[in-house]
Amino acid sequence: MKKIILNPSVVIAETGKILEEYLEKSKAQKTVALDQRAPEEIAQQLQLKKYIEQGFQSGADITQFVEDYLSYSNHLHHPHYMGHQVAVPHDLSGIPELIHGTINNPSSLYEMGPAGATCEGFMINWMLDKIGWLNGRDKYDFHFHPGQASGLLTHGGSMANLTAMAAARAAIAPNAWVDGNPNDLVVIGAASAHYSIARALSILGLGKKAFYPVDVDENEVLRINDLARVHQKALSDGKRVMCVVANACATSSGLFDPIEAMGNYCQKHQLWLHIDGAHGAALLASDQHKGRLKGIEYASSIIWDAHKMMRVPALCTAVLFRDFTHQAQAFQQKGSYVFHDTEVVGMDSMPYTIECTKSALGTKLFWTFALEGEKNIEHFIDQSIALAQEFHGLLRESPDFEVPYFPQSNILCFRYTAGPQDDEFQKKLRYAIINAHQFYITSCEFAGKRYLRVVLMHPKSTVSHLRQLIETVRNTAKSLSE
Ligand SMILES: Cc1ncc(COP(=O)(O)O)c(C=O)c1O
Repeated sequence: MKKIILNPSVVIAETGKILEEYLEKSKAQKTVALDQRAPEEIAQQLQLKKYIEQGFQSGADITQFVEDYLSYSNHLHHPHYMGHQVAVPHDLSGIPELIHGTINNPSSLYEMGPAGATCEGFMINWMLDKIGWLNGRDKYDFHFHPGQASGLLTHGGSMANLTAMAAARAAIAPNAWVDGNPNDLVVIGAASAHYSIARALSILGLGKKAFYPVDVDENEVLRINDLARVHQKALSDGKRVMCVVANACATSSGLFDPIEAMGNYCQKHQLWLHIDGAHGAALLASDQHKGRLKGIEYASSIIWDAHKMMRVPALCTAVLFRDFTHQAQAFQQKGSYVFHDTEVVGMDSMPYTIECTKSALGTKLFWTFALEGEKNIEHFIDQSIALAQEFHGLLRESPDFEVPYFPQSNILCFRYTAGPQDDEFQKKLRYAIINAHQFYITSCEFAGKRYLRVVLMHPKSTVSHLRQLIETVRNTAKSLSE
């Protein structure tokens, strides 16, 4: 098989040109957000079989592949992308991925990627500072101090929640690592907690039944008055509370649990409070909205996704601990080839993560902030939430729509009510809209009913796009009812 010799700078420049065109066309709506095809068609068009057997034979093959690949992708830079909680990245946010893919320096072991590990340590300190946990320490202080806050980056919120649950278990049942779980551990939280919490409990061997749900109100927000009842029930069942989980915010609705009241309760009863801030911890970067997270400082652990509201490409999540001791106890493995007892330069995050090898996550997080500047990220967060609030106003004025709550983030659920009332109809509406390539929106179950849902992640989405969305829903509903 012929192996082609390629000039990296030519291929990179050519790929850069194609990506630039892709971005321009997406932003100017000269393409659609999503034209979803069957995998058989995509595989055929991308010539996967040919290339796996023969390899790329020329620069032209690569160009063709990249162009086809992009045309079969979901165009997040299209202002009609209002779908999942996945960032619309800055045009140049991919550069650290290119660097990482070229030099392949994983950042979990300091000596394997000193620059990446340093960016991670720095951004963790930036996040700790936003919570108020840095306590005057310099952001260039990369040492772990028992009794002081710490953190690490991991691949995504689900992994981050699992890490935090492992740490909470180690705190209440230090022998579980060796002996297995005692059978009296439970976790308390709103029934609307993200499914990754239930998954974490099952993975840790506690079982889903270890989750004790607290009643939620009509908007699926934890009822603080019910927390004491569930706590008492756990105690009378002979259980010990491993942790209390707060949604910040809930995935479906974008609404926040009463963090301060939960924090006060947990402090009074000496319970571990875990804040699932996968989506909403980003509000800590906004002077206008950080009040939503008041009380976060009572938490023992917090997770914070940067690949949702902070314009960072997936994945990049922080797990933050009020006390490094808890981070240190989460995993108790000894790997003689990586964990050194003697003094080493720098800091390894490997002893504290599920992953043994992990990507240079801190670099892309730092890079996006360096491209945008802190203030512009803050402005983007404020603008996205303001847009969700404007959308709420538009829907309230429209008698053929129902909107159940005022948004606290950039997520909003709504229903078209002038057509069939069943949940199936909302699902049909969504599929008809995305299959006609008009908008990319999601749908979810909220408070027992099916809703349409937008997550406003695009810096160029405007109220006029949202007016168009309302019209699109109306017209689609009419054509479905004909
Ligand atoms: C509240 C909450 N927790 C956890 C997760 C899981 O995060 P990830 O998708 O990064 O694994 C999500 C994802 O949407 C979420 O909204």
